[in-house]
Amino acid sequence: MASFCTLAIVLVFLIGSSSAQLSTDYYSKSCPNLFTTVKTVVRSAIQNEARMGASLLRLFFHDCFVNGCDGSILLDDTSSFTGEKTALPNRNSVRGFNIVDNIKSAVEKVCPNVVSCADILAVASRDSVVILGGPDWKVKLGRRDSRTASLAAANNSIPPPTSNLNTLISSFNSLGLSTKDLVVLSGSHTIGQARCTSFRARIYNETNLDASFAQTRRGNCPRAAGAGDNNLAPLDVQTPANFDNNYFKNLISRRGLLHSDQQLFSGSGGRTDSIVRSYSSDSATFRSDFAAAMIKMGDIKPVTGSNGEIRKNCRILN
Ligand code: HEM
Ligand SMILES: *[C@@H]1O[C@H](CO)[C@@H](O)[C@H](O)[C@H]1NC(C)=O
Ligand SMILES: *[C@@H]1O[C@H](CO)[C@@H](O)[C@H](O)[C@H]1NC(C)=O
Repeated sequence: MASFCTLAIVLVFLIGSSSAQLSTDYYSKSCPNLFTTVKTVVRSAIQNEARMGASLLRLFFHDCFVNGCDGSILLDDTSSFTGEKTALPNRNSVRGFNIVDNIKSAVEKVCPNVVSCADILAVASRDSVVILGGPDWKVKLGRRDSRTASLAAANNSIPPPTSNLNTLISSFNSLGLSTKDLVVLSGSHTIGQARCTSFRARIYNETNLDASFAQTRRGNCPRAAGAGDNNLAPLDVQTPANFDNNYFKNLISRRGLLHSDQQLFSGSGGRTDSIVRSYSSDSATFRSDFAAAMIKMGDIKPVTGSNGEIRKNCRILN
């Protein structure tokens, strides 16, 4: 009897834990055309506007860092529900929700009620990176969508661009991501744009930056708070629509746009200088480490089993 109980407990544990595993073939029977369907929509969105690839990638990051990759960032506020879209790191900043809607509609047409919004973000980010010239990887799937969101967690869990290196490292470590993962995933800033308000203090007040770079950026980002807050500048001064390793070269030449970017390379023997140097000179290692770290980020606290739901509309609870 005792050993039967032990066996039963072990079985429950094994089944329970295996249901919490994501897998690359999760939809192979239930939605065999998932990948081509998502990629078609992502490709046309990026053809329309290259920046959209960056925006979709960032949505996945902001989803995963707030109670796991569970589609919580996609939920709209209503009179009776508070989502994450107005959180400080998100408001006036995250974008791409219309494209996620387009992807979801296309996926619902080929396989209704099967694919989660959380998984759509994971696939769309991978596709974005690939289309912009970055590495490819097999996306793990099987996440379900949350029935909750947390404005407070969104405020607290996504590090601000004013963060120093130690804060960045502990933020990533607390989610099971290493210091190397922090550096390689920050390589996402090889694409996309930032608003003046995100880098104003750096270009006017910091010393660890190239003078002519600062001068150029000041041209479209006035010193006075409130003026031109939403004016954009590329995170990668060289090739903002190509997923390459120029981001790391920029850091070495002190042309990181955000304070948090330049923290990764202080130039005076900082903890992560050597990682930045290696990615700046070895694009192949950057690409493979990036792919591995994206899979790791995608593994943060997935909702699985009978928890959560497969949302019909990514913006609204079923
Ligand atoms: C290490 C900590 C990080 C900080 C402090 C940070 C901060 C920021 C900030 C402030 C912006 C500009 C937002 C704006 O001004 O509207 C931005 C943009 C972006 N971030 Fe990060 N980020 C971090 C890590 C990441 C990671 C891990 C990813 C992806 C895996 C990522 C992907 C992006 C992308 C692609 C953009 C451009 C988005 C667009 O053009 O729409 N970031 N980030
Ligand atoms: C989150 O941040 C926003 C924007 O600063 C603020 O309006 C809101 O009160 C904050 N909410 C929580 C719960 O922290
Ligand atoms: C630069 O630093 C000074 C002193 O801390 C501060 O008063 C000022 O607002 C900062 N300027 C910008 C543009 O952040």
